[in-house]
Amino acid sequence: MCGIFGYLGNKQASEIIFQGLQRLEYRGYDSAGIAVKNGTGIALEKKKGRIHNLQELSKNLKGTLGIGHTRWATHGEPNDVNAHPHHSTDKKIMIVHNGIIENFSALKEFLNCSCISATDSEVLAHLIQHHYKGNLLEAVRLSLLQVEGTYGLAVMHQHHDEIIIARNGSPLVVGLGKNEYIISSDLAAIAPHTKKYFCLDDKQIGKLTPSGYEVKDLENSAITKELERITWDVKSIEKKGFSHFMLKEIFEQPASLKNCFRGRITNDEIKVTLNLDDAFIKSINRIILVGCGTSWHSALVAEYAMEKTLNIPVEVEYASEFRYRNPILHENDLVVVISQSGETADTLAALKEAKKHCKTIGIINVVGSTIAREAGSGIYIHAGPEIGVASTKAFTGQILGLLLLALYIDEKREKTANLKTIKDALDNLEEHIKAILEKNEDIKKIAEAYYNSTNFLFLGRGSNFPVALEGALKLKEISYIHAEGYPAAEMKHGPIALIDEHMPVVFIANQNGLHDKIISNMEEVYARKGSIIALTTDDRELKKYTKHIITVPETIDLLQPILNSIPLQLLAYHIAVLKNLDPDKPRNLAKSVTVE
Ligand code: AGP
Ligand code: GLU
Repeated sequence: MCGIFGYLGNKQASEIIFQGLQRLEYRGYDSAGIAVKNGTGIALEKKKGRIHNLQELSKNLKGTLGIGHTRWATHGEPNDVNAHPHHSTDKKIMIVHNGIIENFSALKEFLNCSCISATDSEVLAHLIQHHYKGNLLEAVRLSLLQVEGTYGLAVMHQHHDEIIIARNGSPLVVGLGKNEYIISSDLAAIAPHTKKYFCLDDKQIGKLTPSGYEVKDLENSAITKELERITWDVKSIEKKGFSHFMLKEIFEQPASLKNCFRGRITNDEIKVTLNLDDAFIKSINRIILVGCGTSWHSALVAEYAMEKTLNIPVEVEYASEFRYRNPILHENDLVVVISQSGETADTLAALKEAKKHCKTIGIINVVGSTIAREAGSGIYIHAGPEIGVASTKAFTGQILGLLLLALYIDEKREKTANLKTIKDALDNLEEHIKAILEKNEDIKKIAEAYYNSTNFLFLGRGSNFPVALEGALKLKEISYIHAEGYPAAEMKHGPIALIDEHMPVVFIANQNGLHDKIISNMEEVYARKGSIIALTTDDRELKKYTKHIITVPETIDLLQPILNSIPLQLLAYHIAVLKNLDPDKPRNLAKSVTVE
């Protein structure tokens, strides 16, 4: 995810673009840049870090037409060179891009060009130069016909008073002011300038000039855009209308998970690039997954999938413990560190320790973060910026990232996994998650019944045990209610003593091999008057125990924990809000824990 903002009109563009980018900063904030057309060419300023780093530099840019970008890297670490805008070799064309160009390597080969950045985006500037014969719109259109992947795109050329825009999978909105156009990745940044706008749809391309605009599809057919009006309160939409970032991030999961697997799995191939040679992969004896907090939980979920797929022993370690106990590691071990932020001190130290003995890789969200760089190789989960302190979309992205890793290793070893079945299930994930999100109001009602409780138990079996742990962690960190997660069968070894009418118990009770057993555990709670909240794929047998049932769609075992964790995120969220707490900023907690 990133933010694109552009201006064409009579005012100084750089100041307007700078302010627009600030409004878009929630979409990404690892580097930023602005390009403005001046009398002689195009002037460019870009800088690693937050947008305010650009404030002074942008004052050097004089002109009334320009484009800007706030980046959240997917390819190439955040630095000045990788920041957008990117330009063609002749420096006449500038582009800003949001999304992923999946076939960027093939395009580079096709053009036989050398890029100065490590991004996937830069090749677009070269491709447009290649097709440019005097008509910029046509050059962009021909280029996009060759592109596989997603884009929100804005392009300018030194010799044209125009901005070309295009969209496929990443949003792009055009605001129509008085003798001016504003382009933006969302409406929030347009609203201070004008209420009138249109949105580009996928595979549409447009040209904005001082005398008007045109939109067409990639096949060159003209399209008439209906103009719309902003009717809502501008202040509410930096969070896209959601009351908190946490809720917004929970609702982003249909897209964030798609971003994670898009272009990486086909019916017969896993396409990830890892710095591990085939001989080593064949020789792996043991995999050790290391992380903290929610990242540790994602590792516990993945342990089940990995052992099942790979038939290799998998161990899961808290980074903070692992680093201090002289772990016994061999050269045939693979250590996988998992971190949303890529900055967690304990995980970084564990990685450094592991690197002395064996190969390591990372499952990371923040591109170019310290752990990502130190690990040297790995899988970015591409969840986009996670701003709420409680990790949600990164958790489900980590589970998926680890699954892709398992499938990649499997491909190099036994090829036991049926990729077609998994790919089909992944293709259905978006609809399944949307169906769960539609139950938001029902889940809120359950939260209303329980938000005054002072304790909670979360119980699950198999790969739902770590889902229970994560459900408990979400609740305690944002609502300050004491909560514990247990394997359901462990309840009778201790926690059952706590059960009475004041103890809500959340059961994750899917229809898998352990369903009957979990029903027995539910009986035990029911008999002791504990209140039951049940999460299930089939509620038929459960109605007798409780009216608080959340049904989730059924998917393959490998992906079911992803679906199961989403209602628990919503439950924790609503309980925190009902208690008048700010779920985005829980007390005593920081988004990344860079100290021991
Ligand atoms: C999750 O909700 C937490 N706030 C926390 O447990 C977090 O997962 C942990 O600190 C690890 O962070 P990382 O993934 O950025 O390394
Ligand atoms: N893929 C591009 C990059 O890494 C754009 C990322 C984005 O959408 O923020 O630069």
